Amino acid sequence: MRILITGGRVIDPASDLDRPADLVVEGERIAEISSPGSLGGSDRAGFDRVIDAKGMIVAPGLVDIHCHLREPGFEYKEDIESGTRAAAAGGFTSVCCMPNVKPVTDGRGAVEYILNRARQAGAAAVYPIAAITKGSEGKELTEMAELREAGAVAVSDDGKPVENAEIMRLALEYAKMFGLPVISHAEEKSLAGDGVMNLGRVSTITGLRGIPNAAEDVMVARDLILAELSGGHLHVAHVSTRGAVELIRQAKARGVNVTAEATPHHFTLTDEAVRELDYDTSTKVNPPLRSAEDREAVIQGLIDGTIDCIATDHAPHHFDEKEQEYNYAPFGISGLETALGLTFTGLVKSGRLSLKEALSKLTITPSRIVGIPKGVLRSGGPADIIIIDTQYEYTVDLNKYESKGRNTPFSGWKLYGRAMTTIAGGRIVHEEAR
Ligand code: DOR
Ligand code: ZN
Repeated sequence: MRILITGGRVIDPASDLDRPADLVVEGERIAEISSPGSLGGSDRAGFDRVIDAKGMIVAPGLVDIHCHLREPGFEYKEDIESGTRAAAAGGFTSVCCMPNVKPVTDGRGAVEYILNRARQAGAAAVYPIAAITKGSEGKELTEMAELREAGAVAVSDDGKPVENAEIMRLALEYAKMFGLPVISHAEEKSLAGDGVMNLGRVSTITGLRGIPNAAEDVMVARDLILAELSGGHLHVAHVSTRGAVELIRQAKARGVNVTAEATPHHFTLTDEAVRELDYDTSTKVNPPLRSAEDREAVIQGLIDGTIDCIATDHAPHHFDEKEQEYNYAPFGISGLETALGLTFTGLVKSGRLSLKEALSKLTITPSRIVGIPKGVLRSGGPADIIIIDTQYEYTVDLNKYESKGRNTPFSGWKLYGRAMTTIAGGRIVHEEAR
């Protein structure tokens, strides 16, 4: 398939490119990025598809280094096909999926299974993240050399912390030998207790059990100390507290090998949403939505680079599971289809991040963290491309969701920054109907 994308403003944060250009896709690759109009009218005839991107942004396909595709084991929540279709609809062409599936992604066969399924059914490229410990039980390290060889790009026991500090130290030492980042789900269990939302004013008013900031801060502090000791690459998932942001900032200043991510829900909402939405369980997420000060600190962290990238923590759940009392519903927000809109509307339109910075945090920066050759636009490179209409206002409509998980507090929100066309590996995998 030959595709011509004409007249757009091409932004590639990796190469610092921001200019009007035409883009030619041939097969799975970008064949050419050329000056606008340099391809004459007669050339146009040779294309299977010509996309007019006038007034739009042409950018690398987005890269999400933290999502839950739920396959194998929980296909009733999501599967690789529906999850990657949701990714494509949200502008993501590469996603890294967490290992908390059944069986846990803790061996070669499990990694290969996901890769095979993604090859058959994936609308986006899938990069498995393998477990740190067997069964994510926190006891015995996985065979990381083998996991890496099979195609795992990082290790994490996400959903659970590695409670034993010595195991975490060894994991960082071991993963370092294979160039794998260790992604920390930073939660000190004894402090988090059986909390269901942020500990603060709203939890006091509502009577819901609270999770203190300290549950995250203590674990981030521990993991930073262990990263410093081992020299291993620590990546802190879903940073939600001001304390964690400050600890990571200080660690970076002294040269610790640490990177971090923030989710759209944590930089958009506060724990007030739990009350405002009348205890809607779509606001129940781990780590919880925090206070306004925490949200502001997360945004500051994104601005000053303490927080390197934006990741969705897309955590789809079945309607019936979320349709329970707040205390019993599972944690998680279905996030792939709103991430770009929330980033664009909340951070770019408001002037807090430039468009290039925001795109960088959704493309090249996450790619580098997990070491995948994605998130760039260059001739000869993979044809993973999105065309964003920044003027187009759309309403988050659950009936149009590709994900099986409709658990989002953003239903009905009006957002800007929609991927109108998503091209993954040279295939048009999503086109938005206006
Ligand atoms: O809210 C969350 N949901 N946080 C996690 O860490 C795990 C995830 C899930 O798997 O549902
Ligand atoms: Zn997590």
